[in-house]
Amino acid sequence: MSSDLVRFSIAMPEDLLIAFDELVTRRGIAKNRSEVIRDLVRDALVDEEWDNPAQEIVGTLTMVYNHHANDLSDKLDSVQHTHHEQIISAMHIHLDAHNCLEVIAMRGSSDDIRSIADSLLGIKGVKHGRLTTTTTGKYL
Ligand code: NI
Repeated sequence: MSSDLVRFSIAMPEDLLIAFDELVTRRGIAKNRSEVIRDLVRDALVDEEWDNPAQEIVGTLTMVYNHHANDLSDKLDSVQHTHHEQIISAMHIHLDAHNCLEVIAMRGSSDDIRSIADSLLGIKGVKHGRLTTTTTGKYL
């Protein structure tokens, strides 16, 4: 895939263009219309990768829990060991005397990664969690 820039023109309703320019402004001084359109196209392609179960993707699961709760730490560890082939790294941060923050990086099919995330977030005692979907980058 060539990384040479190609120019093309886009037609859109004026109201949509005004809203788009406000979005460009909110994204900061380093962004212009072309950069923001490239970001939006990449976002759409990453979403498409996640809809394709045959494609390898990566994601991170962030969760916060109280490690005193029942045998929560053991349960979370057990799920992670079961899926050691998809879980490529985990970072554990002791937030205070009770709460832990864990960030887990995963690689595999979107079905597998969503299922592992659901298994972990579904364990009683997990206070908050979110799966962030991204890409290996090789198809963009
Ligand atoms: Ni901890």
